[in-house]
Amino acid sequence: MREEAIGNELLAWYDANARILPWRVAPGSSERADPYRVWMSEIMLQQTTVAAVKAYFERFTALWPTVGDLAAAEDSAVMGEWAGLGYYARARNLLKCARAVVADHGGAFPDTEEGLLTLPGIGPYTAAAIASIAFNRPAPVMDGNIERVMSRLFRVEEPLPTSKPVLKDHATRLTPTHRPGDHAQALMDLGATICTPKSPACGICPLMSACAARKAGIAAELPRKLPKKAKPTRLGYVYVARRADGALLLETRPDKGLLGGMLAFPTSEWSDAPTDTPPLDTQWHDPSLEVRHTFTHFHLRLALRIADAPQDVTPHRGTFVPFAQFSPSTLPTVFRKAFDLGRGVTVDAASAKG
Ligand code: ADE
Repeated sequence: MREEAIGNELLAWYDANARILPWRVAPGSSERADPYRVWMSEIMLQQTTVAAVKAYFERFTALWPTVGDLAAAEDSAVMGEWAGLGYYARARNLLKCARAVVADHGGAFPDTEEGLLTLPGIGPYTAAAIASIAFNRPAPVMDGNIERVMSRLFRVEEPLPTSKPVLKDHATRLTPTHRPGDHAQALMDLGATICTPKSPACGICPLMSACAARKAGIAAELPRKLPKKAKPTRLGYVYVARRADGALLLETRPDKGLLGGMLAFPTSEWSDAPTDTPPLDTQWHDPSLEVRHTFTHFHLRLALRIADAPQDVTPHRGTFVPFAQFSPSTLPTVFRKAFDLGRGVTVDAASAKG
């Protein structure tokens, strides 16, 4: 099957089977997708599933319906709403980008890949996705789903990531000038619903007769992948200090680095052999509990330390946040786990470490 025929089959399938998603306009619709909503969804969908993103997308766009509204938001409000979605650099860049669109582009997103690439947090994937979905430009969009579809359709047996340039060449040839945004979204939907990583549903695939991997009987084996490096484990301490009035000792993490700009309990450094460095001089307790969390490049295990802090003590770092001003939902997941663990602990003099 030639590229044009493959593209037509794909669009016909998409017209009948497109997923209904809150940032999407119906296939072939004369309605234009809102670049702000397309941008927001694409940032949220990086490394994150559609199922996890939907509720966050609805809340963000209800709170901040336009890029101008988002640009004017408080940093802490945006970071707090992002809590739980992970990869927090995305939230910091979301704000930077909204402010750059307002300050440098009169509140309108640039409508080309090159223009979009100049904005904070917009890399090649996001620029291509916005250019094609919001501005109908024929930019090949490459994400994990589309790489998988290309590797099977064209039977690319070279493993990822080495095969990326070849996969992109195939995607570029396939990208039509007519409805390129729907073409990109059709490939995403095909990858998410039919051409799935395990047990692909080749029997109902609109590209079945064109698919070289299926002909060879190896669709489920592709894409091949080079073995991943094992993740190291880092250790540390996390300190939960609470006062009798319900206030909790919290801090905002430095902008640069992991969980930058997010609300957090103080921790020690994270390393092979961390030092116990409490943020406050008081009696700390060891409840023999550990928070475990996995980041992209390492596993983390934080030993929980708990204190019932005196009302008048001044911490070395962080601030006591009154109970009424604190919402656990604004904590990133690793600290939400610490909060949930700590909540179940009553301090008992017998477990005191002093
Ligand atoms: N994954 C990433 N972007 C997407 C989109 N626009 N639609 C569906 N799934 C996606």
